[in-house]
Amino acid sequence: MNIIDVGTSAPYPVVVGHGLLEETGDYIKHYAKRAETAALITDDTVDAFYGGRVEKSIAGAGLRVIRYVVPHGEGSKNAENYISIMNFLAKEQVTRSDLIVALGGGVVGDLAGFAAATYLRRIDYIQIPTTLLAQVDSSVGGKTAIDLEAGKNLAGAFYQPKLVLCDLDTLDTLPEEIFRDGCAEVIKYGILWDEDLFEHLKARRTDFDREYTVSRCIEMKRDVVTVDEFDNGKRQFLNFGHTLAHAAEALSNYSISHGQAVAMGMATIAEKAAADGTCSASCAAEIAGILDRFGLPVKFTYTPDEMYEVMLSDKKRKGGKISLILPEEIGYCVIRKYTLEEMKEFLCGGPD
Ligand SMILES: NC(=O)c1ccc[n+]([C@@H]2O[C@H](COP(=O)([O-])OP(=O)(O)OC[C@H]3O[C@@H](n4cnc5c(N)ncnc54)[C@H](O)[C@@H]3O)[C@@H](O)[C@H]2O)c1
Ligand SMILES: [Zn+2]
Repeated sequence: MNIIDVGTSAPYPVVVGHGLLEETGDYIKHYAKRAETAALITDDTVDAFYGGRVEKSIAGAGLRVIRYVVPHGEGSKNAENYISIMNFLAKEQVTRSDLIVALGGGVVGDLAGFAAATYLRRIDYIQIPTTLLAQVDSSVGGKTAIDLEAGKNLAGAFYQPKLVLCDLDTLDTLPEEIFRDGCAEVIKYGILWDEDLFEHLKARRTDFDREYTVSRCIEMKRDVVTVDEFDNGKRQFLNFGHTLAHAAEALSNYSISHGQAVAMGMATIAEKAAADGTCSASCAAEIAGILDRFGLPVKFTYTPDEMYEVMLSDKKRKGGKISLILPEEIGYCVIRKYTLEEMKEFLCGGPD
């Protein structure tokens, strides 16, 4: 077991290990002492696997447990569910000293976290992430959100949890494609900041050491969010591959998965970075090679022109410039800002 302390404005521990679900009640007693009621928010798939176990553990620690289950999938991260959860909490007389427990992937974590950030102007919450993506990315750092009709994550808040419990055993029941999606983010951390992790992943493929890998990724996310809690600087590195990925996801009407889009985004950026001399051709080949070893795609089916058009409306664009993260070598990346014309040249110019 590993405990990683996150030193944001409100600090909290992330526990990584096995068999943690059964110990949820003990952890709540230790880290969220005031709570008398725990509102367990989850989705139907995760509920069927783990809802009972978590409820039993929390009830065993003497808390009243109430449960709210949404259908699985991104479609649940919406305003209707958000309002329904608010009404549920009010009807159940959940007070400011009580607790929300988010059990599930990034969808549940973002939705339940936003409910916690706003119900009675904020109540405590803990994250129990059950997907690889949620363990290494969304459960740490305090970004919470719901989607609006105009786009993803458009209403939200920065609000840190009291505790994150990453039970590695929950990854056993993940469908393979969802596990692989998370692998794209794990590989991203290796390319950004950790050549040793990259080499470990390259050698072990999907059979990587989970405790080491998940812990290393969380430590890197911790290092970024503690210096840039509100996403004005270093946190942007986590967007490596994501500007192109978001464009492709939008073009596909969200039929390609996020992990696949990120994989293609990282490989494409690396190829372009090699073409303009930012990294070597062998670095770009290493990046495409590892993604391929994980069964992730490396080439977009859209043309650079199509991608560019969609990127113009990317909400992350600031002051007319687009920031891209480029690899210089494995374990070291840089941020570069491009005007729209330069971006077009970077993407669409040169050999393809
Ligand atoms: N807050 C952040 O910083 C942040 C960062 C990255 C992504 N996100 C958000 O995260 C969301 C994506 O998260 P996700 O990929 O975890 O998707 P998800 O929550 O939809 O989970 C994917 C699927 O896996 C199922 N599942 C979850 N855990 C399982 C388990 N242990 N066994 C079997 N099935 C399981 C779920 O029911 C769901 O169908 C997006 O909404 C994205 O915007 C947020
Ligand atoms: Zn991502």
